[in-house]
Amino acid sequence: MTKHIVITGATGVVGRRAVGELLAAGHRVAGVTRSARGARLLEGLGARAVEADVFDAAALAGAFAGADAVVNLLTHIPPADRMGAPGAWDENDRLRREASAVVARAAQEAGAERLVQESLAFVYADGGDAWLDEDARVDGRSTTSTALIAEANATERFAGDTVVLRFGYFIGPDSALTQADVENARRAGTSPSLGRRDAYRPTLWLDDAGTAVVAALRAPAGVYNVADEDPPTRAEIDAALAAAVGRDALRPAMDDVPAVLEPVARSQRITSRRLHEATAWAPRVRGGTDGWRLIVEERRAA
Ligand SMILES: NC(=O)c1ccc[n+]([C@@H]2O[C@H](COP(=O)([O-])OP(=O)(O)OC[C@H]3O[C@@H](n4cnc5c(N)ncnc54)[C@H](OP(=O)(O)O)[C@@H]3O)[C@@H](O)[C@H]2O)c1
Repeated sequence: MTKHIVITGATGVVGRRAVGELLAAGHRVAGVTRSARGARLLEGLGARAVEADVFDAAALAGAFAGADAVVNLLTHIPPADRMGAPGAWDENDRLRREASAVVARAAQEAGAERLVQESLAFVYADGGDAWLDEDARVDGRSTTSTALIAEANATERFAGDTVVLRFGYFIGPDSALTQADVENARRAGTSPSLGRRDAYRPTLWLDDAGTAVVAALRAPAGVYNVADEDPPTRAEIDAALAAAVGRDALRPAMDDVPAVLEPVARSQRITSRRLHEATAWAPRVRGGTDGWRLIVEERRAA
């Protein structure tokens, strides 16, 4: 059945994939953006563009009018070389802490039935070798504490069905972070991974994040992990990336993990079985290993 979906964060790397997938699934889609450039991008994809301030409840309620579902994919992740800089995460924190509350209230006011909220697989405490499902203990710190606040806002301030998607680390050709990972490996021989070599890392091919948003429309309300089916270890990621850029091995990019990046240095062997069982969603590419080769091959072919 055709639904009317409004997306905040629609012009970002996962947002534009979600727009394309939702349109392909036969839904009517509108995306919220701050800029004329964002509006052109959305219209080019075939969606309607709405210019609105995501911190303004009245403006958002207007943008959400008539929506069956609202999808909040707002993030503002700093570039790889600024992640440890003072204030680098402030805008992202503000979007997760404040804009998520405004989105939830506006979705409620607009009468939407469903709210889908982006979150992170990095919220889990270090689990070693153990599989982590959605009931595993979370330990929100630095960048992940505000992801948990966004989850709570979406769940508590919206009376309809809320679906939280805890995404793994995105890997895709148009992600600035992926591009930096590939360049650092190629030029400097450094690894994108932090922490122990035997730690598991929840990675996710970006196209599979887009299809997960479509799946979220048919999932029962709840929290879902969205990551590679069999998350690779850091050693596996390094070996795959090294092979893709033509190196024998990669060395750590830094000796000590800065506090702000501590959550991504944990071992998080995430299972996304709950989303698969609820909706049949499954990743088509193992992002953390096969993704690097696909990206480098695509670049060579371009
Ligand atoms: N799980 C993960 O690994 C994960 C999650 C998210 C992002 N990332 C990475 O972070 C990098 C940047 O992501 P991205 O390209 O999606 O861009 P981004 O800068 O994170 O922006 C994403 C979306 O949020 C909106 N937005 C950002 N700041 C805003 C603000 N202050 N007020 C209102 N809206 C705002 C943008 O809308 P406008 O159209 O208004 O600009 C855009 O649609 C990429 O490399 C990506 O892979 C990783």
